[in-house]
Amino acid sequence: MSTLSAVANLVGSGQEIVARDDIYGGSDSLLSRFTPKSGVLVKQVKTSDLDEVAAVIGPKTKLVWLESPTNPRYKLLIFKLLMLMANGALVLVDNSIMSPILSRPLELGADIVMHSATKFIAGHSDVMVGVLAVKEEREREIPHKLALLHVPCKHTNCICKYFYVASGPQHMKSFS
Ligand SMILES: Cc1ncc(COP(=O)(O)O)c(C=O)c1O
Repeated sequence: MSTLSAVANLVGSGQEIVARDDIYGGSDSLLSRFTPKSGVLVKQVKTSDLDEVAAVIGPKTKLVWLESPTNPRYKLLIFKLLMLMANGALVLVDNSIMSPILSRPLELGADIVMHSATKFIAGHSDVMVGVLAVKEEREREIPHKLALLHVPCKHTNCICKYFYVASGPQHMKSFS
């Protein structure tokens, strides 16, 4: 959740987040209870209703928050269409359930993808880490802003955790 919270922090007062209505409970709680305290307006939208999506995304929309499949209802999304409708806003996809093995939303047009290393990537049950993958075109802008959040918010993790995550695939190789 700390990686997702870091992404929510990219949005400033007076700007808007449009999120799909069916998202993980922790994300829902973050967006409905905490993010609005920073002056950010969060609009939840039924992503199956494209007219509703088109009506809600506007010039103040800074971030479109998607999750597919959703936890716990396992609802899917037609990514490409939604990404075209984002109208220049950043598109975040929470890919926790799929892992980068099964779904690569950056290739479908997302700007930021959150992968859960806690669940699949580390594969060794010894870390709690989220990974943010950022589209090449946004590489200069987004990681820099996220790095600035580290000092006040401690969203980013210590280097030894990266070691554990990187060692996960090595463990898997050595046991295969
Ligand atoms: C879709 C989704 N996003 C985010 C999270 C939060 O992950 P964590 O509890 O590792 O912070 C979960 C946890 O189950 C999830 O299912």
